[in-house]
Amino acid sequence: MFDVKEIRKQFPMLNDDKMMQNKKLIFLDNCSTTFKPQCVIDEVMNYYVNETSNSHRGDYDLCFNIDQKVLKARENVARFVNADVDEVVFTSGTTMSINLIAYGYGLKTLKKGDEIIISEAEHASNVLPWYRLAELTGAIVKFVNLDEKGRVTANNLKKVITNKTKIVSFAHITNVLGYIIDVEGIAKVAHEHGAICVIDGAQSVPHIKTDFKKWDIDFLAFSAHKMCGPTGVGALIGKHHLLKMMDPFLMGGGMNVKFDKCGDTSYLESPAKFEAGTQNLAGILGFGKAVEFIKSIGIENIHQHEVELKKYMVEKLSKYDHVIIYNADSEGGMLTFNIKGVFAQDEATLLNSKGIALRSGQHCAKILNDFLKTPATVRASTYFYTTKEEVDIFIDALINGGDILDAYFN
Ligand code: ALA
Repeated sequence: MFDVKEIRKQFPMLNDDKMMQNKKLIFLDNCSTTFKPQCVIDEVMNYYVNETSNSHRGDYDLCFNIDQKVLKARENVARFVNADVDEVVFTSGTTMSINLIAYGYGLKTLKKGDEIIISEAEHASNVLPWYRLAELTGAIVKFVNLDEKGRVTANNLKKVITNKTKIVSFAHITNVLGYIIDVEGIAKVAHEHGAICVIDGAQSVPHIKTDFKKWDIDFLAFSAHKMCGPTGVGALIGKHHLLKMMDPFLMGGGMNVKFDKCGDTSYLESPAKFEAGTQNLAGILGFGKAVEFIKSIGIENIHQHEVELKKYMVEKLSKYDHVIIYNADSEGGMLTFNIKGVFAQDEATLLNSKGIALRSGQHCAKILNDFLKTPATVRASTYFYTTKEEVDIFIDALINGGDILDAYFN
């Protein structure tokens, strides 16, 4: 049964002793990162306290044990997104995953005049690797038009895609507005034009069901820390044949079969080919545990809870003319808004003074502000452990919280 109060007991960061500005901490910045349950913390700790060894580098039990555990974590991640185990490459997170595609696949396949299509709603990690790839290859980055709400659609993609397009890359759920895109439709359009479809799942994999095989996408990138796992670890999921033809991005131990004095080298098959150097082993084990934990909560329950809280926030705040909501009808759990006449970062500072943690500014999506016609916004993002009571405190602080000077002089 989905019981928020019971679930919260498993998160040390949700204990009543966690304060900010001498107020009980209310964390509404879950799109940025999430809290970790005790089982994930224990898994990470256990590696350091009881099980420390490297993986794939020792002929002794301790090392063999870690090999088995890393494999189990890889299997957990693969099952969670419906991919094969050897389609899962561990990375440091979404940013590294997308860079790996840009350098490993893009550099090998793109040439002058080829096109990469992204949208204005993407965050930095799904923009800058493509700009760099374009710089290095002479390819062009094009933007699909967002619809009037700010959503990427397959129809709009059809209007800009050409046979020169080699890569289309979009967030499944964008990090500011939170619209869920039609991944299957978009992948189909990409494939009809001979392009590959990259999906940035940083904001979707932790919140809604993911089906890599069914959607027939080519690559999927996401991070553990946005789904109750450790920071500094994540995954790149890639179709077998693409991972096979891709060049490794980092060279070193653990990814090669042999090298000699003449410079002859050969590499292991993927995923090992992309995992050079000692990996973030504690992080990977914690990631595997986080996936088990999320599964025990139920991804449908997670999404439903967030949608209910979002609906509640929209209902309550829509009554106030001075609250501008930018994404009232988006399907993701985050609420993005401004208070008329108040700069977003001032509003966040005021809320900080009430113990409420949320994000303001451009949220790494620096192009979207032109579309929203505002320099900055405030974003409240919930997760399955957020309570209605916390949302009420947030709404009250927003409506009755005084002005920015109160943040400094109270
Ligand atoms: N992209 C992350 C966010 O939206 C960091 O906050």
